[in-house]
Amino acid sequence: MAPLVTSLNSLMPRLQKSLSRSEDFTAEAAPRVRTPMAIARTQAEVPLRRVEKEENRQAVREMIRAVDESSRTAGQLLDHAMVSFRTDDLARETIQLDELIVDTVNRLHPISELRDVEIKTHKLMRTKIQGDPILVQNAIQNVLDNSVKYTCADTKITVMLDQSDGTAHIRVQDEGRGFDDTEIDQLLLRFERGKNANGIVGSGLGLTIVDDIMRAHGGHIILSNNAGEGACVTLSFPL
Ligand SMILES: Nc1ncnc2c1ncn2[C@@H]1O[C@H](COP(=O)(O)OP(=O)(O)O)[C@@H](O)[C@H]1O
Ligand SMILES: [Mg+2]
Repeated sequence: MAPLVTSLNSLMPRLQKSLSRSEDFTAEAAPRVRTPMAIARTQAEVPLRRVEKEENRQAVREMIRAVDESSRTAGQLLDHAMVSFRTDDLARETIQLDELIVDTVNRLHPISELRDVEIKTHKLMRTKIQGDPILVQNAIQNVLDNSVKYTCADTKITVMLDQSDGTAHIRVQDEGRGFDDTEIDQLLLRFERGKNANGIVGSGLGLTIVDDIMRAHGGHIILSNNAGEGACVTLSFPL
């Protein structure tokens, strides 16, 4: 028994080291993928401004779109890898959830403004949970990102936070087209995108990442539609 305990004890630090090496690797790889994509995107805008013939402009536009798609997918794949490493070795810090929500909403302002969408926080209850702040923020950001993307321009998104039965609930409601009832069960799966995603850049990995993060924290994500219009996404964490 003793030798087994000794070898297990020595295995843990090694495992820890290899996990953090993988995470470092992803962090180092990220700019090597993101930077050239960003450069290709910027460079492609130049001919778009110069080219006059409509069919050539169309070709350049398609090229830009393809670059957008691949950089979005590459970014989400890197995020997915980062999330897998961090959930395998989950940090348990105290997170002030209401403050994290406000911070995440503020970070998204430049993007929501571009779409003329207002993100409002409403009655955020002071709430503390235990978990990995980077992952929890990533989950909230993915849900908000979706609302900004799939809602209609000139509408508002409301973020709420309350507690019931030993659980904290974050609710994100938008006024967009909402989820299609026939596909709602599939959308957490890898690379699944809804019919409403036609023409909107994405990878189908966002909600998969959120689902992984919620499970790692002993919580869950629920997709639904509001009584009136728009989507409602609920993230529930044990208190
Ligand atoms: N707020 C929302 N309103 C309507 N549909 C949504 C919303 N959020 C997500 N969806 C649907 O769920 C699908 C999966 O979302 P996600 O995994 O984040 O992938 P992506 O956004 O890259 O398509 C989207 O393609 C879209 O059809
Ligand atoms: Mg998404």
